[in-house]
This record gives sequence, structure tokens and C-alpha cells, in this order.
Amino acid sequence: MTRTSPPHSSTLYAQGIKKVKKGPIKIKEFQPSDAEACFRIRSEAFIKLFYDEIGADGVAAGINAYLPKKYIQVAESMPIFIADDGQEQIGFIASRFIQNATIEILFLYIRLDYLRKGIGGLLVKYLENWIAKHHPEIKQIIVDTAVPKYNQIFYEKMGYSEIGESVCHYPDGSVSAVRLMKVIG
Ligand SMILES: CC(C)(COP(=O)(O)OP(=O)(O)OC[C@H]1O[C@@H](n2cnc3c(N)ncnc32)[C@H](O)[C@@H]1OP(=O)(O)O)[C@@H](O)C(=O)NCCC(=O)NCCS
Repeated sequence: MTRTSPPHSSTLYAQGIKKVKKGPIKIKEFQPSDAEACFRIRSEAFIKLFYDEIGADGVAAGINAYLPKKYIQVAESMPIFIADDGQEQIGFIASRFIQNATIEILFLYIRLDYLRKGIGGLLVKYLENWIAKHHPEIKQIIVDTAVPKYNQIFYEKMGYSEIGESVCHYPDGSVSAVRLMKVIG
């Protein structure tokens, strides 16, 4: 698997983005110094948003599966894109190759104080554009969500459709999931 470098960074101005109140929001490639922020943002979502849907065991398994050093490993095979508000990281998206023509969204997390401001949609579109530019052989993007009650509507609004059931496997246990897919290219 070869890694293709994305453009250095992209600045997206609040004026052109629905709902983004602060700006400019910058999207840049992950650096190892972003790992702790990614861990914090994801862990907070598990504890504060997912607990009711997946319970304490699911929350613990999910958080422990991706400690900060794991983000550095993930970023070695595919870029992780970080959104920041000029001061701090406010969200990130990561993907991985599944088969020749399929990429999976592995992570998509927005800091809780930035939810519903258009950042999640911005990162999904940024990744889709990056895939189209650097990996035109990719024909579909899948995403497995362990919390469909919480986020399936978001993915449907991004053009993804449910295609079946799946399982998120973590070293400390498994959590059932719903698989969604979008055909691109
Ligand atoms: C899911 C998530 C990424 C959405 O990010 P966001 O920045 O809040 O979403 P956006 O503001 O870009 O929303 C885009 C659209 O989806 C809708 N939407 C976003 N989250 C939603 C939710 N939880 N439920 C229903 N609709 C939602 C928005 O209202 C908006 O719709 P509109 O264009 O008709 O106004 C964010 O809630 C998040 O990080 N959640 C925790 C982690 C998570 O669930 N990640 C996915 C792991 S599989």
C-alpha cells in the first residue's frame, strides 16, 4: 500500500461554510503532537455521548483500543486530517483501506463544543475529495457505527446508506454496529 501525501493544509473560511460561527477553520494533516488531542476528543465522545447506547464495557473497550500512540501508527498508512480553529484541534477524520476499491472511515470525531456547526460534514467532504484526487481507484466508502441511534442520520445526510450489520472489534471486546456505504467515483 503506498501512501500519497495530501496537500499541506487547507483553510476554509467561515463565510463559506454553513453554520460555522468561528473561523477560519483549518484542515491539516495529522502530526504526532496531535495524538493526545485526538485521544481526548474521542474519549469524551465515548463517555458523554455513547454511554447510553453501548454501556460501560463498550465505552471502556472503545477508549482503550485507541490510546494516543495508536493514532501515530494509524497515520503511518493513511493520513488523518485534523480540523483546528486556529488555536486548538476541534475534530479529526481517519480512514483505512479495506479492499482494492473500498476505504473505511475509521474515525470521525468533533469536539463536543463544536457539534452541529458543519465541521463533521466538512471533514467527510474533505476526505472524499482527497480520496477522489489521490485514490481514483476507490469506488466506495464504508463506515461502521456502533452508535447508529446517535449518528446514523448524520451519515445519511452525507449520502451514506445502511447496507447491513457489522461488528467493531476491539482488543477488550466487540460491539455490534451498523454498516453504511457511499458509492463514489
Ligand atoms: C457525528 C458527528 C461527526 C457529526 O458532526 P457535526 O459537526 O456535529 O455534524 P454537522 O454539523 O456537519 O452536521 C451535518 C448534518 O447532519 C446533522 N446531524 C449532525 N449530527 C447529527 C446527529 N447526531 N443526529 C441527527 N442529525 C445530525 C446536522 O443537523 C446537519 O444536518 P443539516 O445539513 O440538514 O442541517 C459528531 O456528532 C461527532 O463527532 N459525534 C461523536 C463521534 C461520532 O459519532 N463519530 C462517528 C463515529 S462512527
